[in-house]
Amino acid sequence: MKADEVLTAHHDILRGLLRDLAQTADDQTELRSRLRDDLLRELEIHTQMEDELFYPAVRDVSPRLSVAHAEHRQIDDQLATVMRMSVDDPEFRTEVRMLEKTLRHHTMEEEERMFPQAQALGEERLRRLGAQLEQRQRELAASGGMRLIIRLKRATLRLTGGHRVRP
Ligand SMILES: [Fe+2]
Ligand SMILES: [Fe+2]
Repeated sequence: MKADEVLTAHHDILRGLLRDLAQTADDQTELRSRLRDDLLRELEIHTQMEDELFYPAVRDVSPRLSVAHAEHRQIDDQLATVMRMSVDDPEFRTEVRMLEKTLRHHTMEEEERMFPQAQALGEERLRRLGAQLEQRQRELAASGGMRLIIRLKRATLRLTGGHRVRP
C-alpha cells in the first residue's frame, strides 16, 4: 500500500474507536475504559508514524506541516483531558465528542489536502514509505516499549492537574 493509503486505513480505525467511545453509556465503564485505552494506544502509534516518517518525507511538498503539528498537539491536549476523567463522569461524552471533532477535522485535512500534495513524491517513493509505515506500526503495536510509554503516559496524565475527584 502507498503511505497515504496506510494512514487513511489507520484513520478509519481511529474514527471508529472515537465513534464507538462516544456511543457508550455512562454506566458501561468497563467498555469505556477498554475503548479509551485502545484509543490512547492507536493515537500514540499514529502520531509517531506521522511525526517520525511521514511528515519529514512530505516536508518539501506540503506547506501545511506546521498546522498539522499544531493539530497533533491539540489532539494530545484533548486526549489528556479524556484520560484524566473518570469514565462515568457525566461530562465524559462531551469531551470525547470534542476530541472526535478535532480528530475528524485533522484527518480530513490530511486526506483531502496533504495526501494529494504527497502524490508529488511519486508512486514508488510512496509505496516504499507505505511499507516503512506498516513495519513501524507493527513494531510499535508489538513492542513492550510502547506499552511502557502508554502506561507511563497514562500515569502522568492522571497525576498532573485537572484531576476530577469524585465525592
Ligand atoms: Fe496527523
Ligand atoms: Fe493522520
